[in-house]
Amino acid sequence: MLTSLVQAVYLLAAVLFILSLAGLSRPESARRGNVLGMVGMVLALAATVVLSLQNSERSVVVTLLLIALVFAIGAGAGIWRARSVEMTQMPEMIAILHSFVGLAAVLVGFNSYFTEPAEAVHQVEVYLGVLIGAVTFTGSIVAYLKLSAKISSAPLMLPGRNMLNLGALVASAGLMAWFIADNAAAPLIAMTVVALALGWHLVASIGGGDMPVVVSMLNSYSGWAAAAAGFMLSNDLLIITGALVGSSGAILSYIMCKAMNRSFISVILGGFGVDTGTVVAPAADQGEHREVTAAEVAEMLVQARSVVITPGYGMAVAKAQYPVADLTARLRAQGIQVRFGVHPVAGRLPGHMNVLLAEAKVPYDIVLEMDEINDDLAETDVVLVIGANDTVNPAALEDPGSPIAGMPVLEVWKAHQVVVFKRSMATGYAGVQNPLFFRENTAMLFGDAKQRVDDILAALTTQAAEAVHAG
Ligand code: TAP
Repeated sequence: MLTSLVQAVYLLAAVLFILSLAGLSRPESARRGNVLGMVGMVLALAATVVLSLQNSERSVVVTLLLIALVFAIGAGAGIWRARSVEMTQMPEMIAILHSFVGLAAVLVGFNSYFTEPAEAVHQVEVYLGVLIGAVTFTGSIVAYLKLSAKISSAPLMLPGRNMLNLGALVASAGLMAWFIADNAAAPLIAMTVVALALGWHLVASIGGGDMPVVVSMLNSYSGWAAAAAGFMLSNDLLIITGALVGSSGAILSYIMCKAMNRSFISVILGGFGVDTGTVVAPAADQGEHREVTAAEVAEMLVQARSVVITPGYGMAVAKAQYPVADLTARLRAQGIQVRFGVHPVAGRLPGHMNVLLAEAKVPYDIVLEMDEINDDLAETDVVLVIGANDTVNPAALEDPGSPIAGMPVLEVWKAHQVVVFKRSMATGYAGVQNPLFFRENTAMLFGDAKQRVDDILAALTTQAAEAVHAG
């Protein structure tokens, strides 16, 4: 009776998770999607606690105390990190959270091996669970280290690296046959060591520019690791949830690859087939750049009929989304058309810019995707590039030798005037020089993006006051 009830609650939670994912696919419904996911998770946790109490060999009080202790530690750490993490640190936090899922799958696998009777199907579950979990664990740690700049984001180019990956897979297959035949601990432990090294090597070989795909790929791996743990624990909800995360992560990786014009297979296999990877191009002599002041940009904006803002990682660093939203409202109130062009890999997280703009209450209907805005850029009077760099780099289309060659970009240089907000002439994430900065119709507005947008707002206020005075 109780077991059927738990199963029914699990089914309800699974439906809520699916509805949650559907809600999260659009900014307008994302909040509802989050709430549905939270309700689903509360139901799932409550049902699992009931199930644990029923199955536990200990007394109810001891079991409840143990669960409460684990909850307190997990929730305490989770709440503390969620409150303290900066938006710019979200990608690395997600990466480290994925590593926990991987580690959990490894631990569940070993626990299951030592406590459950040997049986072929169960052995396969344990083996695959530990394999996927171990790859996810070390892969996510390397991703965390790269995203937080604790290690270099350049690809590790070991000689014969494709053969190393292949060798690890062949060795894992051989060890699996041994494990199923003997149910011995040695092949399981040996495979764990190989898988830990494989995860490390796979992500270490992926160049900085491909990191967006790595983040979503590890998201997918962590889903499959959770599904494998679900099989080992005979928990249907964990299998469903893991499969949802695994497949949505795989779809997202595919979308990211398309956005960057990269082969899905080559990225997933750790840069397989790429001989040189993403390397920093030497800064060729590009000529002179031109600088403008905030007051000049304010003047340019009030003269414009159409303005497009292309935000990037620098907007997140500077937290410039709030003054940018104010500037947008101000210009729109004067009858100037203002729209946003968002590149699929702008920032450091899928949907990073959309989240920031939504947070600052920029209306959704003026936030367009790259494909929706690119054709309109030639008729745009002013483009404000706020903290974006790689995603507006013409070299991606014009220089076949560029490490980001082939990546579709926002073609901002086609507009009449372009203003680039950044602090220096430094390169972006991919470490590639940007010829946009040296174009005739481009002007640089140096300084912290938030500070500079505030300066433009102040200049607009002064101009308006002067106009009233003169009038
Ligand atoms: P980036 O190419 O990373 O460039 C950001 C620019 O912002 C930098 O050139 C920097 O120049 C400027 N900046 C930093 N702080 C600033 C501040 N306080 N005020 C003003 N400017 C500031 O940005 P992007 O165009 O958004 O491209 C994203 C890159 O990250 C791509 O290469 C993408 O592949 C990669 N990536 C994306 C993801 C996802 S999922 N979106 C994940 C990992 C990696 P200064 O230092 O001169 O100020």
